[in-house]
Amino acid sequence: MCPVKGERAVDPSCEGKLVLFLCGPNLDLLGDREPEIYGRETLAEHVAAATEEASRYGLVLEHHQTNHEGELVELVHGASGRADAVVINAGALTHYSWSLHDALSAFDGVVVEVHLSNPNAREPWRHTSVVAPAADGTVAGFGGLGYRLAVRAVAELLVAAPPSKRAMQ
Ligand code: DQA
Repeated sequence: MCPVKGERAVDPSCEGKLVLFLCGPNLDLLGDREPEIYGRETLAEHVAAATEEASRYGLVLEHHQTNHEGELVELVHGASGRADAVVINAGALTHYSWSLHDALSAFDGVVVEVHLSNPNAREPWRHTSVVAPAADGTVAGFGGLGYRLAVRAVAELLVAAPPSKRAMQ
């Protein structure tokens, strides 16, 4: 398991590594938006929790939210050569954005897909994720805890296979 600050020394595979935390359409409305599904926490609160979790592993987290598909694609392009991991909740783009799929496929770092709700327990059109095949894994259905779990997964994956090793796989 990846050591956390205050317990053991932070693993060099994590220290100072950049995690891009990307959020897609309508996630700026969290707190007000269908709270019975997405909870009452605002996006700012989720970002604070994810940032705190990242700092436990010595990771640096940078957050961006956009309602525009092309902008999200460009944010993923910008991750290459700069970030070691992308944690992404693509909102509804999850279900149809092949351009986002292709951008994530071209990124050579860790990719963790996150959903606050469990799309597989909702309407049938939410059961398909075009992001999932481009991700190392998906965390869904745990509300805001999912962002912390995603950051932890990034830390574990970076320790298990640091970027240089990942490139060779
Ligand atoms: C979501 C699930 C998507 O189906 C939906 O379009 C969202 C949020 C989630 O976090 O549960 O916008 O990604």
